[in-house]
Amino acid sequence: MKTSIRWVLKILMVLTFTSGFIYGAAPNHSDHFSNVPSSMLAKANPYSGHPQAVLAGKKLFDHHCSACHGRGAEGSGRAPSLKGDVIQYTAPGAILWFLKKGDLKHSMPAWSQLPEPTLWQIVTYLKTLP
Ligand code: HEC
Repeated sequence: MKTSIRWVLKILMVLTFTSGFIYGAAPNHSDHFSNVPSSMLAKANPYSGHPQAVLAGKKLFDHHCSACHGRGAEGSGRAPSLKGDVIQYTAPGAILWFLKKGDLKHSMPAWSQLPEPTLWQIVTYLKTLP
């Protein structure tokens, strides 16, 4: 009896240790915007609120992004949802900066080959998501 309790305790300790390790190694999405240069933070979106840019951004999103992030940006697989707090509370310039560099280690492509006005249209669309 005593030895079985000891084993249960040992297994619990191992589980606690490994789950802490796995949690610590998982990518933290809020980290994506933690090193944004201040020059990018200060950049204003030239299309902010323009209905034409929202439409253009939606088309671009469908074409370039929806395969991973889902048709309505609800997220799928490893690609997070782009609806909600993270996008709403992140400065437009910070989103632009992240799109340009991507996160290649975690399967988010870099979009620096797209012209900047195109990227701003995508940002404008993302900002309209509920
Ligand atoms: C090949 C799949 C793929 C495509 C295509 C893709 N993404 Fe991603 N995206 C990801 C993954 C995976 C992550 C999460 C990366 C991580 O965990 O570090 C991500 C992360 C992001 C984030 C950060 C979200 C957050 O909460 O921190 C934004 C913003 C983003 N993508 C926007 C876009 C936009 C806009 C496009 C189209 C121009 C796009 N992505 C295309 C896979 C993709």
